[in-house]
Amino acid sequence: MTEAIALPGEQDTLAIVQCGDPVLRRVADPVEPSTLQTPQLRHLIAQMRTTMELAPGVGLAAPQVGLSLQLAVLQDGPPQWAHLSDDERAVREREELPFTVLVNPTMQPIEDDDWISFYEGCLSVPCLTGVVARHRAVRVEALDQDGRPVDRVFSGWAARIVQHEVDHLRGRLYLDHVETRSLSTLDNYASRWAARPTRTAAGSLGFAVDQPTMRDPSSSISRRRS
Ligand code: NI
Repeated sequence: MTEAIALPGEQDTLAIVQCGDPVLRRVADPVEPSTLQTPQLRHLIAQMRTTMELAPGVGLAAPQVGLSLQLAVLQDGPPQWAHLSDDERAVREREELPFTVLVNPTMQPIEDDDWISFYEGCLSVPCLTGVVARHRAVRVEALDQDGRPVDRVFSGWAARIVQHEVDHLRGRLYLDHVETRSLSTLDNYASRWAARPTRTAAGSLGFAVDQPTMRDPSSSISRRRS
């Protein structure tokens, strides 16, 4: 396959695996770096990009398309945040994240105690959204789609996306970290909480913010309790 960039089309999309499928609970296999140059891997990455863009989503991990591989795609920008006001975007620290591929990533928080809570959702967990505390910034070491080393700090919303996608590669879902009392249908989220500070939802529903949940000690990134 050539480098030609295909415009998104339904024919290029992949089915997104839904929770309950064991592939989402498996630690994904590392990608053999030499395969990144093959037409098959390039085509897969293009298909994952199209699938993410049309879903729409800001990240997609290979296990979500049924492949147990340590490969994820990410992207954020005006099309993805069109539903947010400038203030809502600012408080979420959403900045443009050009299309990014992470292969075999490892991740460390920049500061162990710097947590920030927002509602997030997952294409593999339909109809629900919930509050998850994530590190505000993480350092990621990985390979890119060409097999070149990536060593990069992601912060704000991009750090949230990265943590969510790396979780997928470790067999974890946001449900493992969610404040369960925050869980909301998409309709209730839109009408009640989307435009309000997370703390308002926390006060009304009875959950904690800006600290990791008390019940996910298996999470390598949630190593400490505050
Ligand atoms: Ni997800």
